[in-house]
Amino acid sequence: MFELNTPYGNHLCDLLVQPSELEQLKQEALTYPVLDLSAKQIEDIELLLSGAFSPLTGFMGQKDYESVLTKGCLSSGEMWPVPIVLSVSEKISESVATSQQLALRDLEGEIIALLMVEDQWTADLKNESMHLFGKDTANKSGQRVHYLGGPVKGLTLPHHHDFRTLRRSPIEVRQLFKKIGWSRVIAYSAEKPMHKAEVVQCNQLSQEQEANLFVHAGLKLNDNSAEQFMRVRCLNHVLEYLPQATTQFSIYPYTERKMGIRSVLLDAIIQKNYGCSHMIIDNVSAISARDKVFPVENLSKYEDIIGIKLLQSKPVAYNSKADSFDVVTESNKNNLETLSEQEMLERFRRDTSIPNWYSFPEVIQELKRFYPPAHKLGFTIFFTGLSGAGKSTVANALLIKLKEMGTRSVTLLDGDVVRKNLSSELGFSKEHRNINIERIGYVASEITKHGGIAICAPIAPYRETRRKIRNVIQTYGGFIEVFVSTPLTVCENRDRKGLYAKARAGLIKEFTGISDPYEEPENAELSINTDECSPDEAAQMVLLKLESLGYLK
Ligand code: ADX
Repeated sequence: MFELNTPYGNHLCDLLVQPSELEQLKQEALTYPVLDLSAKQIEDIELLLSGAFSPLTGFMGQKDYESVLTKGCLSSGEMWPVPIVLSVSEKISESVATSQQLALRDLEGEIIALLMVEDQWTADLKNESMHLFGKDTANKSGQRVHYLGGPVKGLTLPHHHDFRTLRRSPIEVRQLFKKIGWSRVIAYSAEKPMHKAEVVQCNQLSQEQEANLFVHAGLKLNDNSAEQFMRVRCLNHVLEYLPQATTQFSIYPYTERKMGIRSVLLDAIIQKNYGCSHMIIDNVSAISARDKVFPVENLSKYEDIIGIKLLQSKPVAYNSKADSFDVVTESNKNNLETLSEQEMLERFRRDTSIPNWYSFPEVIQELKRFYPPAHKLGFTIFFTGLSGAGKSTVANALLIKLKEMGTRSVTLLDGDVVRKNLSSELGFSKEHRNINIERIGYVASEITKHGGIAICAPIAPYRETRRKIRNVIQTYGGFIEVFVSTPLTVCENRDRKGLYAKARAGLIKEFTGISDPYEEPENAELSINTDECSPDEAAQMVLLKLESLGYLK
């Protein structure tokens, strides 16, 4: 049996300064150079200061960093899976000297901690990615990153305005467990809302292990999406359906790292530091990337080292005949019902019902509010294509049809019109075109956020820029990309504005299709060649697409 209530490695890391020292250190800190932390760095600071990263006492230096990457342990020999490092810009790294104190500020500019710089070095991101992710993520070949390492002293824990009563430090949680007599505790990291299947899985494991359940929800700092607020509201409802005497719920700073088994082991250390004896993990076979330093086969060895037992939950599905959730086997799998997260979201989008067996009524209600049906959302129709392809003509026809329907307010952001007002100072370099599209994207995202329809019709020649604005807009509503695929020869023959002739004659430089690139969409919702249909037919094709996606009712 693992010893509970002792942190990993038996260190009692309390990196917050004593109240008696606080005032003096605050005064001193005002004289130190400052470093403004990112949200993710503040999360790391909180995990460090609170002892969730015990036995770490600060950001790693180069020796620890390299040892963690290549050997999976700190230079002292203690097992540690993930580098906890402080990256800074080249400019800052050049201005900082070893043995210097730095004042670390939160997002509002308050000094929350001091770093004694003991080490600084430049690392190769590709090498780091290869070790942590098993591949060169986002093609980081040749990219360098500057790190500062050294012990950290906390003046205060980072401030949170949300769910304060649910936030507890590792010491507070360990004390709570002691007080209520919990020695066997299973941590369940609630990264998604729990439904009936997850409750059954947790109950099964709790009963098997004769252990209490600690629902632990990781929350990001400064997350724009509001998803996590909805998740906590859902979890609060689910608590009503879990055995009260043996369940606790708390929130901790989220550290998404997507590093396969290394992330699992880091979470295991964190949960151990919160006083848990067990932790539920996803199916081990789901840990995709193989890690040379941490082979999955050695999982039980890591459990012993950390002092926490890792439990794999068995997949369950709904048995409608028995009105129960059964463990899925080869023989029963065809008779059981499941609903994937994707299917659930699709049902919300289409305003169709969610079966009662799937979740609890209060949770379904929360989710329904969070994921309104497509016909109640705003959306952006983003036409892209060469000059003269017919974008404006189709966009205007569509504008009229949508106005006729009158369900939402409609705004047309036409390429030429935007160029006259919103982007009048811009030219046609790649940089200027991207600024232009980002501005259009911003206005469209505001319109979409507030439930309206934005029709955009710029050339928007770059795939990456279109993808960026799609990602932003899709957090608020729909994004329908329409590739107006009319071939260059047709656009050039039309040459309504006489610009192609000028471009061919070299009078206009960087002209899209002639002397500047156009990257065709790969996953547009719709392609229209205006050489093969009338503007009305084209607008009708868009309306049909909108209908099939559920945006019109
Ligand atoms: S984008 O590349 O930034 O998306 P946008 O749609 O705003 O372009 O503007 C394109 C319009 O500007 C064309 O329809 C054409 O009338 C005019 N134009 C002037 N110079 C150029 C150029 N070099 N390349 C493309 N369009 C140009």
